[in-house]
Amino acid sequence: MTAACAALLSFALAGCGTGGYTSEGSQGSGKKLFIQACGGCHTLADAGTAGTIGPNLDDAFAQAREAGMTSATFTQVVASQIRFPIENTSTGSPGMPGVDTTLPSCDDVEGDAFCVENQDQAVDDVAVYVGAVAGTGVTAEAPTDGKSIFTTTCGSCHTLSDAGTTGTVGPNLDAAKPAKALVIDRVTNGQGAMPSFKGSLDEAQIQAVAEYVSSAAGK
Ligand code: HEC
Ligand code: HEC
Repeated sequence: MTAACAALLSFALAGCGTGGYTSEGSQGSGKKLFIQACGGCHTLADAGTAGTIGPNLDDAFAQAREAGMTSATFTQVVASQIRFPIENTSTGSPGMPGVDTTLPSCDDVEGDAFCVENQDQAVDDVAVYVGAVAGTGVTAEAPTDGKSIFTTTCGSCHTLSDAGTTGTVGPNLDAAKPAKALVIDRVTNGQGAMPSFKGSLDEAQIQAVAEYVSSAAGK
């Protein structure tokens, strides 16, 4: 057994010499969690997310994958990034929030905000999922209907009951009931902690998500 394998054993899920960890179930749950907890900040083609606050995870891993790094190693990198992110960068640019913010345990969360029953399991599921798909060259169809765009791009920061999202970084849109023009303006230009999506969503996608939000909010 190599040193890398020995280190990997601390992740209960990692396999060594057995073809690796292959549970579809956990990858499936990891994908759902990724879309809710990470996609607002990270682009990942397989998940259909287009966040721009953090690095594009396909770009981040494509080169290393090309150079022969395996999914198991990526899984380990992602798991430690989630557990021990640099929350305050030396350059003052926004870092990545801690695990109690990205994947809060339901023991610590009141009401029906997004949370996970088992934080360790959730970290492992997300890490296995990202490790398996990041940088593989998979390009999911960019969603074009407003609701899908909202779920993958906006939901991790905004609550909107029609879309089933529970983000709390930005205002609750059921309560705000924004007009279409306001949605277009915020999505195009950003404001405060909300980034501009001009570079990641095209004109038609911005129109579609604005139409959706202005008609679904408060329903
Ligand atoms: C509020 C925005 C935000 C959220 C939510 C977020 N991240 Fe990040 N992430 C960042 C930023 C900013 C960085 C770059 C700074 C750093 O390395 O800490 C980063 C870095 C990373 C890196 C390192 C990429 C590289 O190039 O080395 C990985 C992997 C990562 N995030 C995965 C995740 C996963 C998985 C989740 C969900 C559990 C997540 N992030 C949630 C903002 C976020
Ligand atoms: C990283 C978190 C984040 C993401 C992702 C995000 N938003 Fe926001 N959003 C915010 C924050 C924070 C504000 C409040 C900004 C302010 O006024 O300072 C906001 C404000 C808004 C407002 C104005 C609400 C009001 O009543 O003032 C709308 C509309 C909106 N967002 C829609 C969207 C849509 C649509 C998307 C996806 C394309 C999106 N947001 C993605 C964080 C986010």
